[in-house]
Amino acid sequence: MTAPTELIERLDSHNQSHLLRWWDELSAQERQHLQTEISAVDFPLLESVLLKSKNNDSATESVPRADIAVAPQSLVCQPASAEDTSAWEAARIIGGDLLAGGKIAVITVAGGQGSRLGFDHPKGMFPIGPVTDRTLFQIFAEQIQAKRIECGAAIPWLIMTSSATHQETVDFFKANQFFGLASDTVHFFPQGSMPAADAETGKLLMSTNHSLCLSPDGHGGLVTALQSSGLLQKLESQGIEHVFYHQVDNPTVIICDPALIGLHQQHDSQLTTNVVRKVSPMEKMGVLADVNGKLEIIEYSEMTEAQASRTDDSGNGLFWAGNTAIHIFSLAFFKELSEDGCLLELHLANKKVPHLNDSGQMVQPDAPNAFKFERFIFDALPLAKRSLVVEGDRQREFNPVKNAEGSDSPATSKAALIRIYTEWLSSLGHEIAEGTPVEISPLIATDASQLSARLKAGEVTVESLTGQM
Ligand code: UD1
Repeated sequence: MTAPTELIERLDSHNQSHLLRWWDELSAQERQHLQTEISAVDFPLLESVLLKSKNNDSATESVPRADIAVAPQSLVCQPASAEDTSAWEAARIIGGDLLAGGKIAVITVAGGQGSRLGFDHPKGMFPIGPVTDRTLFQIFAEQIQAKRIECGAAIPWLIMTSSATHQETVDFFKANQFFGLASDTVHFFPQGSMPAADAETGKLLMSTNHSLCLSPDGHGGLVTALQSSGLLQKLESQGIEHVFYHQVDNPTVIICDPALIGLHQQHDSQLTTNVVRKVSPMEKMGVLADVNGKLEIIEYSEMTEAQASRTDDSGNGLFWAGNTAIHIFSLAFFKELSEDGCLLELHLANKKVPHLNDSGQMVQPDAPNAFKFERFIFDALPLAKRSLVVEGDRQREFNPVKNAEGSDSPATSKAALIRIYTEWLSSLGHEIAEGTPVEISPLIATDASQLSARLKAGEVTVESLTGQM
């Protein structure tokens, strides 16, 4: 049976007819599968991105953003005076009111494959608790539960997965009874996927004789996925006004930080970004910077060492403001971004993509051979009419798990958790011997004052927090 004429013509017109080269050998089901995958591809869009990149490559006059950017001009720094402290306190109260009024939802992006960590499951399942091996997902779930109880509000939790992480993530939550959360308050929604194109010819690559090589469309895929899943409308109908956004890799994120939410509201911001001071110019963090008067994030991979080390006239580093990927989005801004599809730019990533060659053999390239297409959520920043940068407390808030070893690894992240919990206990007069693992469930306390109340009420003992009973 030949392929449908419409399909043949569509592929011919985009120079992609090779996708049907095994059509005759396929079962009815396989043909259906292939047709469905092809029908989801926006060929004109991919062609325009590939063309633009080719033209950019040959354009010599374009000035790299990192050469002209300056440090973000409009930002709220960590409190340094009594006046600042009371301003932060005022923001905290506003944020607390928004939380209590049911205006805030949480989105965790968990669609990445975590290949750098070398963990063969969704990253949220990684055990990070220093005493009990609590997973990242459990820590977030307990933080959200604690906030719900504290504020007496629903705080919906949305978790963006991808085809690589979706089923295992859902199964994990089910197997753990949603860590005590009502199952209808946690919403999983998979992001979309994008095909990979041969870097030389632009022809789409195939992983089997009836499947394209597909991969997640980047965390910017959130915009489309929120819309197409119906969750954007659902949040709107529930009266949600702002969304607390964070990545799955940071166990010390302060979910629904009332100060950050309050500052966002006070500045009538559409998109607020938490930043911390980078430890070195070459640290693998994107940086917040003003480029021609627009706030943008420049990724670490886009900067040479000389660019990353640029300073102002007084010798201060220009690119100190590392992106923690903790944001507050106004829901209305998400709606604007998803009008007419998605306003975020599509980027190319040159990667090694295993695929079938013309004779049907699997090829494992040893150098980048293909372009993957992805969107970045932070490309929303220059599109916002009002945005805000807020400096966070690095030691407390940013201790991600990214690499198997070295910086940003399970070892550094666990050590940070122990340091934070030990500091809370020390501030309450409990000295903990160095090297003692400590773990405090967010359901017990999310700061020293809550911990103090629990200890005083006899609801918890220091021994139980250090794994000694
Ligand atoms: C990211 C940011 C960087 C920031 C740093 C802070 C990018 C490109 N860069 O770097 O600016 O300073 O975090 O920790 O994001 N994800 C999806 N779907 C995808 C791809 C990723 O949900 O298709 C999620 C991952 O699950 C993870 C997050 O996005 O939660 C970050 O992705 P990753 O690629 O690890 O970014 P980094 O290089 O660490």
